[in-house]
Amino acid sequence: MKTLSPSILSADFSKLAEEIDAVKSGGAQYIHLDIMDGRFVQNITFGAPILKSIRPVTDLVFDVHLMIEEPEKYISDFANAGADILNVHFEACTDLSGVIDKIHSLGCKAGVTIRPDTPVEAVGSVLNKLDMVLVMTVYPGFSGQKFMPEALKKIPILVKVRKERKLNFDIQVDGGISLKNIRQVMDLGVDSVVAGSAIFGTGDPKAAASEFMSIIREYETN
Ligand code: DX5
Ligand code: ZN
Repeated sequence: MKTLSPSILSADFSKLAEEIDAVKSGGAQYIHLDIMDGRFVQNITFGAPILKSIRPVTDLVFDVHLMIEEPEKYISDFANAGADILNVHFEACTDLSGVIDKIHSLGCKAGVTIRPDTPVEAVGSVLNKLDMVLVMTVYPGFSGQKFMPEALKKIPILVKVRKERKLNFDIQVDGGISLKNIRQVMDLGVDSVVAGSAIFGTGDPKAAASEFMSIIREYETN
């Protein structure tokens, strides 16, 4: 399934439940939750209590992007708060394989994220255990940054390796995705698209999600 994962980082936090409902009505299947600790990235967002409070108001898949140091210390909090997919940064892990195993033991899907300056080979040895690889198309830290098309060269490599090794992980992209460049990304064989400002920054997240989904669905049969 090809999926849209709107990032609430650009949403109005005073009415989070309504914002999430709006993107669900627009057809989004995931909700992207950007966790930043002020250490791995130069910004702080929110933690597991926010997930816990919105978990009862939606059945969308909680797609959690952990931009934090020492993720192994916190993944059980996020799993208990209702995470479905837990994505850790390659650059933040000292025992990547161990973190992935821990995520699976908590009943969540496991993803690994790579920054634009991290080569795709970094995840090679763990691809067989992964449910998702997240390729960043901006440096993590903030919504509304400029898309970095050069990061896309990693996508065909992941598609090729996945096929050759008969693996099943989804490929997700995150950062600066808009209605202007989504086709460029989907054409490469991406499975899941994160978008923050292009959805919640528009004033009409339902309509924006719906426009994204009408393009994403075109790729479902390809
Ligand atoms: C950036 C975050 C992204 C961000 C996306 O560090 O990981 O998920 O919220 O926002 P846009 O789509 O505005 O780049
Ligand atoms: Zn993100």
